[in-house]
Amino acid sequence: MEKKIIISNLSMVYTGPEEDDGSGLGVLSGVSFEVYDNEFVSLLGPSGCGKSTLLRLIAGLEQDYEGEILLCGENPRHKRIPVCYMLQKDCLMPWRTMLSNVLLPIEIRKGDLEKACEEIKPLIQEFGLQGFENYKPRQLSGGMRQRAALLRTYLMDGEVMLLDEPFAALDEITRMQMQDWLISVWEKHRKTVLFVTHDIDEAIFLSDRVLVMSGRPGTVTGSVQIDFGRPRVRDMILAPRFSEYKKEILDLLGRTKADL
Ligand SMILES: Nc1ncnc2c1ncn2[C@@H]1O[C@H](COP(=O)(O)OP(=O)(O)O)[C@@H](O)[C@H]1O
Ligand SMILES: [Mg+2]
Repeated sequence: MEKKIIISNLSMVYTGPEEDDGSGLGVLSGVSFEVYDNEFVSLLGPSGCGKSTLLRLIAGLEQDYEGEILLCGENPRHKRIPVCYMLQKDCLMPWRTMLSNVLLPIEIRKGDLEKACEEIKPLIQEFGLQGFENYKPRQLSGGMRQRAALLRTYLMDGEVMLLDEPFAALDEITRMQMQDWLISVWEKHRKTVLFVTHDIDEAIFLSDRVLVMSGRPGTVTGSVQIDFGRPRVRDMILAPRFSEYKKEILDLLGRTKADL
């Protein structure tokens, strides 16, 4: 199977403030993993372990690292590879309507907005946003804002989706509904997804595979294959196998020292 993301021995140090000793802050250390075409992989790790930094490196937004990244077979240092990237914050523009926020990627690549508007109608429906096209972000519910941000991400050019804790700010019930919804959309459209989370249940429920990271400097300490069939159903969280996966992940997390 084709590998969409290959990370080899990646390390990264942020330069600290000038008054510091100059050694900087080691954020990532010797990170290696691969993500296959159409795979849904979660990256699970404690807060501050470098998950968002890792996504920024893969998206080509930071160049100052050691090791190698290959995205769709190319090195993002040498060639800009389009990628669908959703930041930890939804980053919807408050002065734009939901629809014009969603259409932003098309506007940026100077596409035909009228045509896109027609074409994305079924997606607006599928993302549960119909009837709210002219609402401003502040007039939408939290779940709706996240779905609008996800649809905008989906409309970016790119075969790989990088999602940075898209549901972390939602209440538990909305988060569960969003997970159910995301997994049904993904099972239909299938893109390669790298999904950052610090929620173990969320990672198991959604993923084909969970990569567990240590505390900072973050490194991948284990990979757990989640062999539940698809479509995924909510009840699977009650299955004994779910608890076994959870225990395996907790053991991997527990082996590392928390850096609080
Ligand atoms: N631009 C930056 N400059 C210096 N340090 C940073 C910068 N961005 C993040 N950090 C530090 O790097 C560490 C990892 O951050 P981050 O990648 O956001 O972690 P996570 O997403 O896993 O919570 C944190 O300790 C954070 O304070
Ligand atoms: Mg983060």
